Amino acid sequence: MSARKPFVAGNWKMNLERKTALGLALAVRDAVGRREDVDVAVFPPFVYLDEVARALAGSRVRCGAQNCSDEPSGAFTGEIAPAMLVDVGATHVIVGHSERRHLYGEGSELVGRKVQLALEHGLSPILCVGETLEERDARRTESVVGEQLARGLAGVDGRALQTRVTLAYEPVWAIGTGRTATPAQAGEVHAYLRGVLAGLYNEPAAENTRILYGGSVKPDNVRALMAVRGVDGVLVGGASLKPETFLPLLEFR
Ligand code: PGA
Repeated sequence: MSARKPFVAGNWKMNLERKTALGLALAVRDAVGRREDVDVAVFPPFVYLDEVARALAGSRVRCGAQNCSDEPSGAFTGEIAPAMLVDVGATHVIVGHSERRHLYGEGSELVGRKVQLALEHGLSPILCVGETLEERDARRTESVVGEQLARGLAGVDGRALQTRVTLAYEPVWAIGTGRTATPAQAGEVHAYLRGVLAGLYNEPAAENTRILYGGSVKPDNVRALMAVRGVDGVLVGGASLKPETFLPLLEFR
């Protein structure tokens, strides 16, 4: 099986409630069934993780957290340790989402420590990178995402990169705005990121690492984005909140 199997990930952010989260998880589970040609994961709010992970146990749908602490345990009020996430059934964790970086001031060093700690505790991190509109207009996209990538992966060896880490390119200006990157824009940045990986590691490592696109992905644009060379899947916010818009994303071919 290719290391770059298509991956559809639903980031529910701070949405849904216990009942709707559970109902949605079950709808995704039933739609995925025994399909082997796609990896699917949902990322509920922390407080519903345990219950959603239980509901998905034994299915092909994975459950992950939207964030984690960079500390293993201790006096860190309000934080959640990677080991706790594993304890309640999470297999994945989103790290460095632009909302964490821009609304909560998370820098790339902190993001890198989270990636490392997540790996140490057996979680598969999805490391997000992306430029703001201002940075894109100033032609700084490559330097911004390149630096986020290098710092986020500091301390990650090539084997962990290829087998456990997923990257996500999420232009900040496309998140929750209805303004998707064009396939050409996504393709350019994905190719650039893969080049950075080849430099940080080597060509095979770059070729084996999955890179998702995120930012206003919807049923009507998922096919065009998934058809882009180098786009291995999608990280979806808004459209992942209802079965009517989430399930059609699985028909990306
Ligand atoms: P969106 O969010 O699909 O609502 O734009 C994407 C994300 O933040 O991962």
